[in-house]
Amino acid sequence: MSKTDTSPYIKKIPISKLRKGMFVHDLNCGWMDHPFLTNQFPVKDDDTLKTVCGMGLRELYIDTKKGLDVADALTQQEVKQEISQAMAAIANEPSLPMSVTLQEEIGRARILHKEANQIAHDMLLDIRLGKQIEMEKVEPLVENMIDSIFRNPDALLPLARLKDHDNYTFQHSVSVCALMISFARGLKLDRPTIKEIAIGALLHDVGKAKVPDSILNKPAKLTEAEFDKMKSHVVQSIIVLQHTPGISQIALDVAGQHHERFDGTGYPNKLQGDGISLYGQMGSIVDVYDALTSVRVYKKGMPPTEALGKLLEWSKYHFDPELVRQYIKSVGIYPTGSLVHLESDRLGVVMEQNEEKMMQPIVKVFYSAKSRHYLTPEIVNLAKPSCQDRIIGHEAFDSWGIDPAKWLPQ
Ligand code: C2E
Ligand code: SIN
Ligand code: SIN
Ligand code: SIN
Ligand code: FE
Repeated sequence: MSKTDTSPYIKKIPISKLRKGMFVHDLNCGWMDHPFLTNQFPVKDDDTLKTVCGMGLRELYIDTKKGLDVADALTQQEVKQEISQAMAAIANEPSLPMSVTLQEEIGRARILHKEANQIAHDMLLDIRLGKQIEMEKVEPLVENMIDSIFRNPDALLPLARLKDHDNYTFQHSVSVCALMISFARGLKLDRPTIKEIAIGALLHDVGKAKVPDSILNKPAKLTEAEFDKMKSHVVQSIIVLQHTPGISQIALDVAGQHHERFDGTGYPNKLQGDGISLYGQMGSIVDVYDALTSVRVYKKGMPPTEALGKLLEWSKYHFDPELVRQYIKSVGIYPTGSLVHLESDRLGVVMEQNEEKMMQPIVKVFYSAKSRHYLTPEIVNLAKPSCQDRIIGHEAFDSWGIDPAKWLPQ
């Protein structure tokens, strides 16, 4: 299991219930700009209370051992249980069948992934030079990515997980594109629509080409001014796409609305609810998922299962909860490429999803958690009736010192 604190004293409260005398344990906002050096501090005076209330948070965690309590608040443990129950309910719904085996698809997917990164990389350089996007390269690429994911998503999706610090911007675009195709496939959208969604996904962050590298790859938190500059990437993407002949409204929606949020707190247009198109809503879910699970110059990546839990938790405000559920169905509770902990106290990487049995994927087992040494790798199909083992939780590669690049299906 992840090593987060599950003390019964940690409780989640709405911001409206925060009072002087309480102790903030976690602002529940990841990296958002805030004036406190740490996420944990006592609300000792009215100034602190005012500052926290003015941060635009909806909910936060307090430590009731170190400060005042709120009677009917859920403990962190209860919040986690709620998320696990919601995940388990999703797991009981059937998913889509594959048409070819992983072995048949993996070679093609590897070549395609390289090509996609090259095209996305060149495109950013071109835009920096003021050149147009070459749709004659983009269109066949996304067609090939759609074909691959429809044949077997377990080949291309885990390849797209792998990113290196310096190349995040274009690798993220390729990854979002692959994840969006699989999401759209799960929603059973038609092929011409999926193509436009994929184009929008591949191009969603092209405006980042107009943001200086010093901000884009800053190995620390951004200042307010830098973050404003960063946020302008959406409008820049829109401008670039509007100058791209043949671009569709669907592709524009994905790119132009991927930072809008369901409750109207997003940018650039503070759109709300269904004012954000389905394609923009899908883009925001996938963008946050891929950003959270990626290694960056300034932070570690989050294990995929944990990121899905965060999306569910945030979906109360930022995303349509039903759409988040559909997204989880499309990637699985333990997405391909995740590190999982088995009841036998062994670790393995998820190689393939099992249709209808989300909690029982096919896993390559290679590590003994008990004795902390590598085992001879073994492929275990957890859905086989004869299989005695099961997943008890997800793990982060880096807390075990395991290099994900060595173990992802590739
Ligand atoms: P956003 O918060 O609007 O951030 C937009 C982009 O600004 C990010 O795109 C990233 O390139 C840059 N950025 C934001 N904060 C920092 C920072 O502290 N340092 C540096 N060097 N760059 C920063 P990215 O990474 O593709 O993320 C897309 C969206 O995913 C973010 O949009 C946000 O909504 C979400 N997200 C990503 N990581 C986290 C996280 O750790 N916590 C939370 N709560 N949300 C995250
Ligand atoms: C958050 O809810 O704090 C981050 C995810 C998002 O930007 O919607
Ligand atoms: C879940 O939340 O159902 C997954 C459990 C875990 O991996 O921690
Ligand atoms: C991942 O690759 O699963 C995210 C980073 C990590 O778990 O170390
Ligand atoms: Fe973006």
